[in-house]
Amino acid sequence: MLRTHTCGELNMAHVGLEVTLSGWIQRSRDMGGLTFIDLRDRYGITQLVFNLESNSILCMEARKLGREYVISANGKVAERSNKNPKMKTGDVEILVDHFTVLNVSKTPPFTIEENTDGGEELRMKYRYLDLRRNINRKNLELRHRMGIETRNYLNNKQFLEIETPYLIKSTPEGARDFVVPSRMNTGQFYALPQSPQTFKQLLMVAGYDRYFQIVRCFRDEDLRADRQPEFTQIDCEMAFVTQEDILHTFEGLAKHLFKTILNIEMDDFPRISYDQAMKQYGSDKPDIRFGMTFTELNDLVKGKNFQVFDHAELIVGINATGCSEYSRKQLDELTDFVKRPQVGAAGLVYIRYGADGTVKSSVDKFYSHDDLKIILEAFNAQPGDLILILAGKEEKTRNALGTLRLEMAKRMELIQPGIFKPLWVVDFPLLEWDEETRRFYAKHHPFTSPKQEDIPILETNPGRVRANAYDLVINGTEIGGGSIRIHNKELQQKMFKILGFTDEEASNQFGFLMNAFEYGAPPHGGIAFGFDRWSTILGGCDSIRDFIAFPKNNSGRDVMIDSPSAISEAQLKELGIKLALPVPLVKAQKVRFQKE
Ligand code: AMO
Repeated sequence: MLRTHTCGELNMAHVGLEVTLSGWIQRSRDMGGLTFIDLRDRYGITQLVFNLESNSILCMEARKLGREYVISANGKVAERSNKNPKMKTGDVEILVDHFTVLNVSKTPPFTIEENTDGGEELRMKYRYLDLRRNINRKNLELRHRMGIETRNYLNNKQFLEIETPYLIKSTPEGARDFVVPSRMNTGQFYALPQSPQTFKQLLMVAGYDRYFQIVRCFRDEDLRADRQPEFTQIDCEMAFVTQEDILHTFEGLAKHLFKTILNIEMDDFPRISYDQAMKQYGSDKPDIRFGMTFTELNDLVKGKNFQVFDHAELIVGINATGCSEYSRKQLDELTDFVKRPQVGAAGLVYIRYGADGTVKSSVDKFYSHDDLKIILEAFNAQPGDLILILAGKEEKTRNALGTLRLEMAKRMELIQPGIFKPLWVVDFPLLEWDEETRRFYAKHHPFTSPKQEDIPILETNPGRVRANAYDLVINGTEIGGGSIRIHNKELQQKMFKILGFTDEEASNQFGFLMNAFEYGAPPHGGIAFGFDRWSTILGGCDSIRDFIAFPKNNSGRDVMIDSPSAISEAQLKELGIKLALPVPLVKAQKVRFQKE
């Protein structure tokens, strides 16, 4: 038998028992006549002891074992004289009688410890070693439990888990598709799904009124800490429901996960409209773990000969409470911060309300002490506060102040770990105008239904139409989004027209859906959650890579398997593909794993 117990389960109740453990050598220490080895497996670490006096040959052999060797050790469980309360098995040790080396190991390129000396690139290259680290194991365990609890909750509510295809035709949802050439249909391509959106809608037409799937999605977009080219959604759809039913059902799922994974009872989630979120936080995914909401100043500051404000569409600011002592250098840093191209503000105006009641601003030339006092009142400012103001085009200024608000929260250390503040953002606009291409795009996707009361202005004032669309936001991260769908062929056709599709394009791309709508499509709607993101938030981390077993790096590469990579000319030929660029030389022929 290679093991009778795991390395994480022995305690005082097992003292005297003969056991066999198998695992990896975490570390070993020689202390005079004794050698100690920490043996590790998925479940924990157990101390093995070798006694030079009682079994010198065995002890000398043990001293030759290196880090990460795989061994199986047999011996009696004994009470430790020097107990380690930090370890689950810290009361006991194994007095080893004999051991077998199951496999040797090269010295790993970084330490397999909580705080490793390996950089990200190196750890990704040797991800199988990185995954041996406790921290990664805990993350994957949390992810596993979330998957199980999601299935439990949805199964109890009559949802069916149904798989949809991976080789599909593109669904335009904002990102680029990954495409797969078809050998049997030369010159034609499948697209990997950005989400199973149209399939889940077809399942509603088919009568499967509660569907879900924990499903891989693929999007060829620029990567960030919360984005991967392949990621997992908890994708859901329901028929015969209103928006209220959906928010209720999935707020239930979120509460269930908070309770079962973190043992936190959540109150009902607040709701805020998109317009309100933009006005108060400058973001459609506001972090409400702290306040610092916006105050608009258009009515207070215009007409004082300060051109920047006089010409601005919007003048808006935040109160950084208790920051009046910020130095010139700190204020310059903030000004540089907002002027960075990613933030895009032209400059930053400040008003310092000193703790002694003095008022000093960067616009003293234009505003009297009384003018400034009125502005301070608008912010409800108290002595000791610092007011930061931006001005310019409406949308851009809101976004910039939203970014500054988050930066200030970081600098002011307003965000406590372990606090979760979810909210629903509702009433998104249906469409988004793009200045560059001078056309409307769907804010969510083309299948989202407009609000009934806004349908009359769909053609006359499309930019003002609100959608039955909603997002779940937790701690400033968009965890999920969905909508009530259009289920009427005429309205869907109208929507495609507004989005600039010709009848032919609409029918080519979505004919199957429009046809389905002619066979009794029920009213339906749904939502999809970013499973990796949700795990990351509940795990208290920032990067979704930490919750994906084999993630890609920021350039979309898997550095372990070295992918993407070139393919051979023979393969290209077989697929009927001619590269516009010179073909990188690939000597090896494709290895076939299956008989064809
Ligand atoms: P949406 O595009 O908003 O909606 O995606 C749903 C959720 O998926 C997560 N997500 C991502 N996670 C990691 N990496 C990415 N690249 C990435 N892109 C998105 C986010 C997001 O909230 N079909 C619709 C849903 C619906 O209408 O039912 C959809 O895919 O957490």
